[in-house]
Amino acid sequence: MANEEMKKAVAVKAVDEYVKDGMTVGLGTGSTAYHAINRIGELVNDNGYDLRFVATSVRSEEQARGLGLEVLDVNDVERVDLTIDGADEVDPSMQLIKGLGGALIREKIIAAASVAEVIIVDETKLVDKLGTKAPLPVEVLRFGHRKTKYALELQGCTAVLRLGEDGDPFVTDNGNYIYDCRFPQGIDSPFFLETRINVIPGTVDNGLFLNTASTVLVSHPDGTIDKMGA
Ligand code: 5RP
Repeated sequence: MANEEMKKAVAVKAVDEYVKDGMTVGLGTGSTAYHAINRIGELVNDNGYDLRFVATSVRSEEQARGLGLEVLDVNDVERVDLTIDGADEVDPSMQLIKGLGGALIREKIIAAASVAEVIIVDETKLVDKLGTKAPLPVEVLRFGHRKTKYALELQGCTAVLRLGEDGDPFVTDNGNYIYDCRFPQGIDSPFFLETRINVIPGTVDNGLFLNTASTVLVSHPDGTIDKMGA
């Protein structure tokens, strides 16, 4: 199975197993979540499911609206039953790095508001230690961002300002910049680091999603899908 097929397989499995009629569903962001949104569109348009949605990015909201799905403001929703989202790294205890797609803040807010967070990945995202494959994205205010970078690097990483395709700094849906932080030996103490980063002035939040996933589904090239968690 090619990588794209693995993404689609795990996305379809998550939707078919976890989305129930009547739910309010959080829509993730990224190339794996893209397939989940398409499958949810089929449940609504072909199978008559009555579902409402909140989106973790403008991109996913536009995709969902294009499929005719009803996307609500998360402020107007009493409860999010389930969110299905991707991840950039998953460690053996289901701790995550997210945000290479640039949507980490909205993803974190919606994950925190969700009763269940189902993470969908292919096996290339599995790591023994966070930060060994992916950088840790940190969303920062534009004001004084080079000062924020300096403080980030005091945590032992190299922080690189993310650029868009046009070569200018990438701007998030919230109007902020992202620094991608590489830790040479990976992240030794994710819980400690999360707190240290988030007290740096100018930091909005970071891509460590700790004790957030209730389930992780992992697809493999032979077509099998493993489950971690509930
Ligand atoms: C976006 C994210 C994505 O969930 C993460 O980057 C995984 O994306 P993909 O499924 O394309 O690998 O955190 O901010």
